[in-house]
Amino acid sequence: MTTYTAIHLKNRPDDGKIGEHLFEVKEKTVPEPENNQVLVRQTYMSLDPAMLGWMTADEESYIAPVELGEVMRSSGVGTIVSSRHPDYSEGDKVMGMMGWQEYVISDGKGLNKLQEGVDEETALCVFGLPGLTATQGLLNIGQPQEGETLIVTGAAGSVGSIVGQMAKADGLRVIGVVGSDEKADWITNELGFDGAINYKTDDLQAKLEALAPDRIDVFFENTGGPIQSHIVNYMNAHARVVVCGMISDYQAETPAPGPNWLPLIKKRIRIQGFAMPDHLDNSAQLIAQLTPYVQQGKIKYRSHIIEGLTSAMEGLNLLFEGKNKGKLMVKL
Ligand SMILES: NC(=O)c1ccc[n+]([C@@H]2O[C@H](COP(=O)([O-])OP(=O)(O)OC[C@H]3O[C@@H](n4cnc5c(N)ncnc54)[C@H](OP(=O)(O)O)[C@@H]3O)[C@@H](O)[C@H]2O)c1
Repeated sequence: MTTYTAIHLKNRPDDGKIGEHLFEVKEKTVPEPENNQVLVRQTYMSLDPAMLGWMTADEESYIAPVELGEVMRSSGVGTIVSSRHPDYSEGDKVMGMMGWQEYVISDGKGLNKLQEGVDEETALCVFGLPGLTATQGLLNIGQPQEGETLIVTGAAGSVGSIVGQMAKADGLRVIGVVGSDEKADWITNELGFDGAINYKTDDLQAKLEALAPDRIDVFFENTGGPIQSHIVNYMNAHARVVVCGMISDYQAETPAPGPNWLPLIKKRIRIQGFAMPDHLDNSAQLIAQLTPYVQQGKIKYRSHIIEGLTSAMEGLNLLFEGKNKGKLMVKL
């Protein structure tokens, strides 16, 4: 009898703190698939900032909370090790919602086979949530135009780095906001951003004005924080704000106040939030929009890999401490 490890949510992070105290680690017997089912061995599991929200009891969010006692929710990639499903064979590599567990039984719903030639890391870094989010947010909501200026916060992160590179490829001037000089160096010298602002050390207004002399047309917001007001007050007429994430508020007892809305009227600015679960049915279309950028070699990425399922329990903190360099994932 072969066993595997699964991690269940035991407590809610009411004080915003993440760690082993929230979870119960269980050893289980590897199940056999029934008719029209497959058994997947998960190989790489994505860790995402949204997980903190999924663990709270917030019923008003875009997705139901993970119930106490349930396996923690996550997406991942894996290999089919046993199939009794007509559409899948042993050895197929698939991506989908798999949870914090080494093996998962699936009826195939929500599983997508990896495209030919795409390895597991690339799948999670680019064609998984980061790339789909960047594509939906930038192209379909931000509607960038050649010659415009875009600013993206969380610019060295998994979503932000793709947003900036797609915008560069489309002929925009691109400024990234990051929390370290190493990240600033990576996005400018490796990814080709036109400039970087270190929100921890730079004079925000002075740097913004120096790097974006024509002001901002598209603001892709991943973080929130004090720079938000500077940006909103420094936008052009008919600018767009794409509200993707507010990580600086996820652990805050009281969310930070937003910018004043007067510029929205004067400049006729459009602000729109979005959440990817609304758009996952449209994944094929999003992948079709994203693929040309990848095929033309316009998208570089880096992955930050931690080892072993149980490392997820503390590893999730890396995202909130800014210690992840690239897409955070667990190798199982
Ligand atoms: N709307 C959606 O459907 C959707 C989908 C995916 C992701 N998101 C959101 O997009 C954002 C980025 O997600 P990701 O997966 O790509 O993560 P990520 O950017 O790879 O990692 C998170 C980064 O956030 C930055 N950060 C942490 N605390 C911060 C703070 N207080 N102020 C400013 N920056 C802070 C850190 O970078 P620095 O070192 O630069 O500070 C950290 O590396 C998150 O807010 C996430 O919730 C939304």
